[in-house]
Amino acid sequence: MTSQHHTIKFPTTNHQPITLEKHQKLSEHLTIENSPVLFGCRTGICGTCLVIIKGDIPPPSAEEKEILEIFAPGNPQARLACQIQLTNDIEITIFERK
Ligand code: FES
Repeated sequence: MTSQHHTIKFPTTNHQPITLEKHQKLSEHLTIENSPVLFGCRTGICGTCLVIIKGDIPPPSAEEKEILEIFAPGNPQARLACQIQLTNDIEITIFERK
């Protein structure tokens, strides 16, 4: 059986792309060394891991949506990195808070 892999790129930083197997959780594989993403709670509550995602991944759950409404209202590309499972190649940039 061949497993499928996807690439995560960090276009606005010097971090090298990371390749993970499909359905891996970003929160289990992104670290302070290999990515610009910071995590706090890792359970979708604190908003620390707010990022902008480019790429075709499943839409946020109702719970994630609620938190996104608070931290990034009106920004459809904003996501909580800790809630994302990889289902496609994606590009991640950190959400700039105003
Ligand atoms: S780390 Fe807290 S919401 Fe993602």
